[in-house]
Amino acid sequence: MTRFTRFTRTTAFKLSLLYIAVFTVMSGFLLVYVAENTDHLMSEQVVQTVDAELKGLSDVYVRGGVRNLVDTIDRRSRHPDASLYLLVDFNGNALVGNIARLPTVVLEEADGGLRRVRYTRLGVDAEDVERQAMVRTFELRGGFRLLVGRDLGDQLRFSTLLGNALRLWLIVVVIMGAITWLFVSRRVMKRIDEISATSTTIMNGDLSRRLSITGNDDEFDRLAINLNVMLERIELLMQSMKDVTDNIAHDLKTPLTRLQTRIETALRDAKNEEGYRTALQATLDDTDHLLRIFNSLLRIARIESTAPGSVLESVDLNKLVAEIAELYEPLVEDEGGRLEIVVSQDLEAECNKDLISQVLVNLIENALKYGHPETGELVISLSGQEQEGRIVLTVTDNGPGIPEKDLDRVQDRFVRLEASRSEPGTGLGLSLVKAVARLHGGDLRFKNETPGLSARIDLAPVTPVSSGTKDGQGTTTGNTN
Ligand SMILES: Nc1ncnc2c1ncn2[C@@H]1O[C@H](COP(=O)(O)OP(=O)(O)OP(=O)(O)O)[C@@H](O)[C@H]1O
Ligand SMILES: [Mg+2]
Repeated sequence: MTRFTRFTRTTAFKLSLLYIAVFTVMSGFLLVYVAENTDHLMSEQVVQTVDAELKGLSDVYVRGGVRNLVDTIDRRSRHPDASLYLLVDFNGNALVGNIARLPTVVLEEADGGLRRVRYTRLGVDAEDVERQAMVRTFELRGGFRLLVGRDLGDQLRFSTLLGNALRLWLIVVVIMGAITWLFVSRRVMKRIDEISATSTTIMNGDLSRRLSITGNDDEFDRLAINLNVMLERIELLMQSMKDVTDNIAHDLKTPLTRLQTRIETALRDAKNEEGYRTALQATLDDTDHLLRIFNSLLRIARIESTAPGSVLESVDLNKLVAEIAELYEPLVEDEGGRLEIVVSQDLEAECNKDLISQVLVNLIENALKYGHPETGELVISLSGQEQEGRIVLTVTDNGPGIPEKDLDRVQDRFVRLEASRSEPGTGLGLSLVKAVARLHGGDLRFKNETPGLSARIDLAPVTPVSSGTKDGQGTTTGNTN
């Protein structure tokens, strides 16, 4: 397809054509309307003038006879204006007037009303010059015929002028339309070509590419912004899918191989029922662990592929935290610790109740598993408040914390620090917390306290809140051993 045919297929081209057509028709109508009306007005003026003159001259004739009429016509004929006169006797001989030649039939049909004729002006025009006029003939007593008329020169010149203006106007409209079309289509084509080129690169596998945004805030920018958001989401989903397949390929290999080895060892070495029973029990534990890994992986993938709008609702965080506290206070107590709850009153967030409960459970369980201080009692604190327009939930312990270099790493899948290998776990708890935080438009952040570790996630409030913390307004429930 040539560049020209591509051009002619664009919306811009079709719109420009339509614009030119509509504009031409409108301008045509306007000009024809003006021309018609002007012509009508001028003709009316001619009729009135001719009639008035005829009446005046016949009066002159009635009062002063033919001599007087001849004098008057002779005087008036000498004026170089548009008025035309001719007086002929009953033989058709011209007596006086300023017309040299005109069709004789006009004089024969006296009082036939106003008619258009070609004539030659006396004493002004050469033999072959012909002008146009509106004339009327009137029969006077005594066989005289009086012709009075108006030259149409001015009217014709005006019509020609209008005609020329119309032609010029049409040319201007067509040129302007063509320029607009060229400008618009070039701009539009350029942007569309850009979008096509970028999408081709993206289709070829470079999912990180984004459409450029000019900052003009036009429809192309809005389209590019929306497409970029869509690409962002697709990239995230692809990444999430890739992560899961990678995890299955690599991280599940080790426990599966261990399971296999255990079964093989049992088959080879077990001597009696007791031996088989022990091996089976260990196998059951392994499969249990594997199932937990599978469940967690699938859950994380599901969270990562969820569209936020579909799962968020306004949730009363005071109630949610109270339910968790009720569940975990006894567990923390059993570990010889204390659970402190500090949540601002009437705290509501736009979130998913089940996922946020799971997040708090994961963080509290980590604190229980890894947050024990070397000496003294374990204190786990769960707090929630508004901070800079976000709702922040924090779980803090007073244990050994995480080395600074590992603070980011522990959020990755299957990462378990050396110090915590003695505790059971999959290394996926924090990955789930991070996925949930991201789903809520927030993030998971760690900070080492002295002593201990604090993990915080942020959520959107239900209504816009004033910035700044509202510390001190909290309700505190604590449990001391
Ligand atoms: N409060 C904490 N104090 C010290 N280390 C922690 C704390 N929380 C997490 N960690 C470290 O981060 C690692 C990752 O935690 P994560 O919750 O992701 O996995 P896990 O607890 O080992 O397993 P799972 O949560 O699946 O049972 C832990 O193994 C531990 O080494
Ligand atoms: Mg955990």
